[in-house]
Amino acid sequence: MSLIQVEQIGHHYFTPSTATKALEDVSFSVKEGEFVSFLGPSGCGKTTMLSILAGLITPTSGSIRIDQKKPNKDVHFIGYMLQQDYLFPWKTIEENILLGLKINGRLNSKTKQQALSFLNQIGLKGVEKQKPQQLSGGMRQRAALARTMAVNPKLLLLDEPFSALDYQTKLKLEDLVAEILKAYGKTAILVTHDIGEAISMSDRILLFSGSPGTIHRTFEVPEELRMLKPFDVRSQESYNQIFQTIWKELEALETNRSS
Ligand SMILES: Nc1ncnc2c1ncn2[C@@H]1O[C@H](COP(=O)(O)OP(=O)(O)O)[C@@H](O)[C@H]1O
Ligand SMILES: [Mg+2]
Repeated sequence: MSLIQVEQIGHHYFTPSTATKALEDVSFSVKEGEFVSFLGPSGCGKTTMLSILAGLITPTSGSIRIDQKKPNKDVHFIGYMLQQDYLFPWKTIEENILLGLKINGRLNSKTKQQALSFLNQIGLKGVEKQKPQQLSGGMRQRAALARTMAVNPKLLLLDEPFSALDYQTKLKLEDLVAEILKAYGKTAILVTHDIGEAISMSDRILLFSGSPGTIHRTFEVPEELRMLKPFDVRSQESYNQIFQTIWKELEALETNRSS
């Protein structure tokens, strides 16, 4: 059954002098446990769509159901991970990671123990008492993952979480995030403008086009790729084929826009 059901979403941003049509006629659904990517150039409404899913923005038109309900930013159901880690610089890694549980009134010895053992699992043992600025970019994003996972959300929204990292760190973190989400059976939506990242991490790719933002095409990632680690996907022949197809599709979109 679908965890997310989005029907004919449209969204305008209004300012006193302008109206920007950010999304038009966006419909899709996401099954429980599925990993879906929103791929597309900058400005085609990907972040807007995530914010609508998170209940941070009410769309101008259309309907949306997550677990049969309207999005609601108060539920602890959704975890967000962004390009910037937004760790509080004056708090230790441990305090940062336990913050969500504390705010939700769910911090107890069991949840604390779980959150700290998760740190161990993702290779961050020993940094609990350090401040974020003492860690590398990759470690900080790991800490951000730990903070997101600590509240045990059902759905993870990942808005370009790897795009500020150097290439090697990014590839390692893609593997780690994919492994963790699979192990915990999470449903996830990843926003990216990186074709390779979308193919290597997802079950399905929604290719967005801009002005106004809409879903241009959907690509199913072949079954044989979905079972592999993202890093290993990149060396497969079928990865190259789907990469070329999406590349050409994006080129055609650009040509249409500039002509
Ligand atoms: N808060 C806002 N106010 C006005 N326009 C916005 C706002 N946020 C985004 N936009 C516009 O909406 C469109 C889609 O933006 P966005 O969802 O951020 O795209 P993406 O994440 O794909 O880069 C762009 O034209 C952007 O300039
Ligand atoms: Mg964005």
